Amino acid sequence: MEKTRAQWGSKIGFILAAAGSAVGLGNIWKFPGRAFEGGGGSFLLIYLLIVIFLGMPLMLTELAVGRASQSNVVGAFHALGHKGYSWVGWVGVLGAFVITCYYAHVGGWVLRYVFAYITDAPVIYADSLGYFYNMLGLHADGSTSFPWVAVLFAGIFMALNAFVIIRGVESGIERFNKIGMPALFILLLILLVRSVTLPGAEPGLRYMLSFDWGKVTFETVISALGQAFYSLSIGMAILITYGSYLSKSENIEKNTMLICAADTLVAMLAGFLVIPAVFATLGSDQVGKGGGFAFVSLAGVFEQMPGGQFFGILFYLLLLFAALTSCISLVEGIVAFLTEWFSWERKRATIGVCAVMFLIGCLYTCSQAAIPIKGVWLDAVNGVTFPAFCDFMEFLTDRLMIPVCALGCCIFVGWVWKPESVIAEVEQECVRFGLARVYRVLVKYVAPLAILTILIMSLVTGKTLS
Ligand code: PHE
Repeated sequence: MEKTRAQWGSKIGFILAAAGSAVGLGNIWKFPGRAFEGGGGSFLLIYLLIVIFLGMPLMLTELAVGRASQSNVVGAFHALGHKGYSWVGWVGVLGAFVITCYYAHVGGWVLRYVFAYITDAPVIYADSLGYFYNMLGLHADGSTSFPWVAVLFAGIFMALNAFVIIRGVESGIERFNKIGMPALFILLLILLVRSVTLPGAEPGLRYMLSFDWGKVTFETVISALGQAFYSLSIGMAILITYGSYLSKSENIEKNTMLICAADTLVAMLAGFLVIPAVFATLGSDQVGKGGGFAFVSLAGVFEQMPGGQFFGILFYLLLLFAALTSCISLVEGIVAFLTEWFSWERKRATIGVCAVMFLIGCLYTCSQAAIPIKGVWLDAVNGVTFPAFCDFMEFLTDRLMIPVCALGCCIFVGWVWKPESVIAEVEQECVRFGLARVYRVLVKYVAPLAILTILIMSLVTGKTLS
């Protein structure tokens, strides 16, 4: 195993890279739809509580395990002397692998939209939903065809990814984030102002600020929890890898808070941007369309603002950045493992694994609308079902792999390696871990119990985690 590990070039570099991993399609593509389904304001509040009480301790745990072990996700458990727990790492790598397969494809759609706004803005404005489905191979007359445009762009997106990974941690990932992240943030603010001032946006805004407790169910909590883990990149052992590149003098506690705050802020901004826009343009009955939001509903915002086409291009460009930095973190976790564990050469490992993931991901894009490829699923209520392959891939990661890996991390740290070891790791070089006591309770009792409940509930009731 190699002895000298890469390290982040600068303090801000690490924060931006970890925040770059967290902020991605999850915040902008997934969050708004979930916030709407969960009842607006009440969902937001639950989400916030979950980030604070579960997300933060888990993120801190992963970073500390990574830095203490100076190893990849599987090696970490060996390095800390508990080989028996390396399955947690395996689940993490496998989960990252499956997520990347489809994440890169959705990233490809975003890339497609950068070009779509350059050449086809009026066509998108005319029928934004039709344009989206057309890209996925389902046409207005109901006929279907191979979604080669979406697949082609997914290939380009994956190649971009591989390129950055091959160039290494510092030069690749850091440089991307230093510019992309702040720019995305500013653009979201600008679009937010346009969105909430659109005629008809007000009920959407009011909805996002309303606390309708009658709408809060156990499912809302499950959904918020899954969304929070996904969004913070937890339970994928990504942060163990990133933590291993972190210098001993960094304050893990403070960094964790910063990253969680940045990720949550972006999600909130996206929620307050997208939902009012959907109310104003597509109508509130369209809000449930979830995934297509980021592609479909914003067309109305761009159409009705001066320089809308320019903002459209900029938005998808920055979303592309965000997706790329998240995808890079996923691939980096896998590649770091392959190169260290099997002594594969970095360049070959990256190209090989990216090619395979791209091919598997084609099943995701094709099964959206064009070709009825099925997966298989089992839960206690519905028995054996055959969901579309794209849903199957998300079930596998969101309902099974993420919670299992997160639970494994909690049990390992709470009961085997012990919270004291994490606290000692955080307190290296005279850094004080102010919330150490609270952390101990959260990681030992609260987090594992909460995750176990979700895991069981989602498998027993068939309700999705994220
Ligand atoms: N957190 C990323 C997002 O919100 C996705 C991701 C999940 C990245 C898991 C890495 C690991 O889009």
